[in-house]
Amino acid sequence: MDAINIACSRPYQVLVGSGLLDEAGAKIAGVTGCCTAALVADDTVDALYGDRVQGSLERAGCRVARFCFPHGEQSKDMGTYVRLLNFLAENRLTRGDAVIALGGGVTGDLAGFAAATFLRGVPLVQLPTTLLAAVDSSVGGKTAVDLPQGKNLAGAFHQPSLVLCDCGTLDTLPDGVFRDGCAEVIKYGVLCDEEFFDSLQKPINEQREAVIARCVRIKSDIVIRDEQDRGERQLLNLGHTVGHAVEQCSGFSVSHGHAVAIGMAYAARAAFRRGLCRRDCPARIEEMLRLYGLPVRADWAPEALAQAALSDKKRRGGHITLVVPEAIGRCVLYPLPVDGLADWIRSGEDTL
Ligand code: NAD
Ligand code: GLY
Repeated sequence: MDAINIACSRPYQVLVGSGLLDEAGAKIAGVTGCCTAALVADDTVDALYGDRVQGSLERAGCRVARFCFPHGEQSKDMGTYVRLLNFLAENRLTRGDAVIALGGGVTGDLAGFAAATFLRGVPLVQLPTTLLAAVDSSVGGKTAVDLPQGKNLAGAFHQPSLVLCDCGTLDTLPDGVFRDGCAEVIKYGVLCDEEFFDSLQKPINEQREAVIARCVRIKSDIVIRDEQDRGERQLLNLGHTVGHAVEQCSGFSVSHGHAVAIGMAYAARAAFRRGLCRRDCPARIEEMLRLYGLPVRADWAPEALAQAALSDKKRRGGHITLVVPEAIGRCVLYPLPVDGLADWIRSGEDTL
């Protein structure tokens, strides 16, 4: 098992290993001292792992109240959020209890936002069951739901009290969902670690515990320097401007990780065309994405993607902050006037 200390304003640990779900109750009770655990999961994950986690919590002396919702991004909305708040109120959750998010990024974001806002904040524990949630969404405290106008538009920062990543849960992931997580793993390599990037030539699935721990450490280093996302943390949005636009234009039929893969490929090709990075950079990124069966282009016109991107939180007044690779392992923030976004995206369309 690997233990990573996240030294942010309210420090916590991320534990990565196998069989952790069976120890979840004792570890959660040890950290939060909770009496009632509101266990939140989508229907797929609830059926696979809900009973195991409930049993573990009950053995540790916790009362468990289970909230289950239909799987998918469309559940990360105000309707499910309000139903969850009502559920927490009906079950008389207090600040001495805890919300337990068992699942992927949708569950973590939704349950996290409810935990952030119910009673102005109750403890949150993240039990990620997708690779994407393990390496990204369960760590760092960003929580949100989507609005019809765009993704993650209503949210809050709320750091978890504990993150337990049981790598065994990844065994049941559908292939496409596992590949979503691979896109975020590749992102970390492009962002700040060329050696790690190259190590991904060996399948992530064959080295997943080490890969997850490395990604969490990279994310932690960035988050503790910029917890509130005012500067450096925005680097973690590599691939997300075009990525969020692709998700939006597809009506969320393109999943988050696949969309981020497309966004990274656009960012690298556009950066090369503008003379901001070396020729080998986009080619290496595309090659790595293809190795994991991830897409590198989108079907929508640059104007449509730019329009969708304008609802993005990364916009400040007349500018949007892009993340641009200069080399594998080095990226910079790049403010661009909003009216230049469609041209930027167009310059990222073509294979070099
Ligand atoms: P998800 O939570 O919808 O999970 C994908 C699918 O996998 C779901 O159908 C789920 O039921 C299923 N699933 C989950 N775990 C499983 C398992 N172990 N076995 C079998 N099936 C399983 O999606 P995701 O890709 O994990 O997360 C995407 C979401 O995360 C997006 O909403 C995105 O905006 C958000 N996100 C948030 C952050 C953050 O910092 N908060 C970062 C990145 C992404
Ligand atoms: N996933 C981006 C962040 O946590 O900042």
